Amino acid sequence: MTNISGRVALVTGASSGIGAATALKLAEAGAKIGIAARRTDKLEALKGEITLKGGEALVIEMDVVDAASVEAGVQKMADAFGSIDILVNNAGLMPLSDLDQLKTNEWHKMVDVNVKGLLNVTAAVLPRMIKQHSGHIFNISSIAGRKVFKGLSVYCATKHAVAAFSDGLRMEVGQKHISASPASSQAPSPPSSTTTSPTPATDSKWTISQVR
Ligand SMILES: NC(=O)c1ccc[n+]([C@@H]2O[C@H](COP(=O)([O-])OP(=O)(O)OC[C@H]3O[C@@H](n4cnc5c(N)ncnc54)[C@H](OP(=O)(O)O)[C@@H]3O)[C@@H](O)[C@H]2O)c1
Repeated sequence: MTNISGRVALVTGASSGIGAATALKLAEAGAKIGIAARRTDKLEALKGEITLKGGEALVIEMDVVDAASVEAGVQKMADAFGSIDILVNNAGLMPLSDLDQLKTNEWHKMVDVNVKGLLNVTAAVLPRMIKQHSGHIFNISSIAGRKVFKGLSVYCATKHAVAAFSDGLRMEVGQKHISASPASSQAPSPPSSTTTSPTPATDSKWTISQVR
């Protein structure tokens, strides 16, 4: 996506790390940003930073695990900005734990946030994008979405799910309206042999991407 100025973007997990950095970059490029997460104090601080740089941000308290919270946040965004052109599905967890430690609480949390949370946000945003006949969805995956690492089995499983879902989303919604564009990550780069981002079609108004 080249012309971001004036677009409306929703970034989940914007209270820290990659999400906060992405929101800042998009705002600097002229997008109006919905910054979503549970820690609103962090979001308020980020909003201050964005505003100071001349950007526009809306703080959205959102727990991606809770579909009602997601829908309310997306509605708040639509009420404020009228549309959502870009979704960055970034919220995610990566606790390190060997399987024999049986930290099942963490396993379930990762599935809830990394997979079900991403599905909740996509489900809330996609109908709006379909209605407006345009939209870009960036699902933050990982090299762990293509390879498996010791000590990260469940995390890798969730990111494989994100990768599979992104491919399926591209196939299903992309048949008529959506094509994929390559995206680069601010996270450590995978070896080039694992980079599978498809070639972009230039005439599409839609993009379903994974950022690894
Ligand atoms: N860091 C890396 O090297 C790396 C590499 C590849 C991919 N990734 C992926 O990139 C994404 C961001 O990673 P990061 O390293 O930037 O992580 P991070 O700094 O720990 O940030 C995680 C974000 O997710 C949000 N989050 C967690 N649970 C949530 C929930 N239930 N509802 C809403 N938001 C929630 C957190 O916000 P609140 O706690 O305020 O809700 C926080 O803003 C993740 O999907 C991760 O898997 C990271």
